[in-house]
Amino acid sequence: MTTRITIRKPDDWHLHVRDGEMLKAVLPYTAKHFGRAILMPNLIPPVRTAADCRAYRERVMAALPAGSKFKPLMTCYLTDDTDPDDVERGFRDGVFAGVKLYPANATTNSAAGVTDYKKVMRVLERMEKIDMPFLMHGEETDPEVDIFDREKAFIDRHLSKWVKQFPGLRFILEHLSSKEGAEYVKSAAPQVGGTITPYHMVLTRNDWFGHGLKPYMYVMPVIKTARDRAALRKAATSGEACYFLGTDSAPHPYSRKVSTNGVPGMFNAPVAIETYAKVFEEEGALDKLEAFAALNGPKHYRMAPNADTITLEKTPWTAPEEVKVAGPDERAIVYRGGETIEWKVVA
Ligand code: DOR
Ligand code: ZN
Repeated sequence: MTTRITIRKPDDWHLHVRDGEMLKAVLPYTAKHFGRAILMPNLIPPVRTAADCRAYRERVMAALPAGSKFKPLMTCYLTDDTDPDDVERGFRDGVFAGVKLYPANATTNSAAGVTDYKKVMRVLERMEKIDMPFLMHGEETDPEVDIFDREKAFIDRHLSKWVKQFPGLRFILEHLSSKEGAEYVKSAAPQVGGTITPYHMVLTRNDWFGHGLKPYMYVMPVIKTARDRAALRKAATSGEACYFLGTDSAPHPYSRKVSTNGVPGMFNAPVAIETYAKVFEEEGALDKLEAFAALNGPKHYRMAPNADTITLEKTPWTAPEEVKVAGPDERAIVYRGGETIEWKVVA
């Protein structure tokens, strides 16, 4: 039985670190084990322009622990009014690593997202031209579509068409949550890649509301069935280059999660790489962890893998239940908080 594994330093291709005191509280958990992370732009107000993005990157750099080599990769929040020239300049200047689509009102802080896809076709054309990645929250927002079918509906109604319309554009369908999503990505690879969270590979909707309601498990896209979970585990652990690590770690203040109108998002950075290691071990695929966590993502984003390594060992430890955030009675609930975590990063 393998009890120790060394892999290239992983990257997180989908992460929310927020801003202000929350940023300071949560960023160190990712910076500790990951070389780079794609940072989501859904702040209030969103990171819409290259100028917004430069300013946000400064705040992120200022929140890093001293001596950290962690590199934030920034994204542009796509709106109906995004200027293709600003996107191109930001990409060429190394400010933006990609553009992120939030369909309007699909999830947390997406009110300023795209209301009409016709309005952003000029931006997609430009991105295709300059070979800039397109990251997507891939869920259909038509209220007629059931919440468990939103990912499939987005693929059927939009993504499958865009892939043909923009054959040179590289897509990332983020936080894959369904069997159909995982299968679609493979069928459209290498043009399309997909990230997978740790929790979509561990939990089902039975865990979420089958034995009491666990508000902290409310995320978008929602956690689905055992059938979907099995497909995601198979995809991630296959070693296929189209699947890569993206935690979607998304901290919120406690009071906004545990509420009569709670917000989606699960803060999992403190246990992320350790939970992926657990899944890969359970699937008998620890030898594929490095590809998923450290090689496939850079390949899709056309970057070099990290040169450093991390070592994980089977040494149990207890995850913190919450992380304190400066300010009056502020804290973020941690996924698997209080649980025994099997794997530990030791070097
Ligand atoms: O659960 C989610 N939380 N899904 C998203 O797409 C956004 C995120 C957030 O920002 O909290
Ligand atoms: Zn997200």
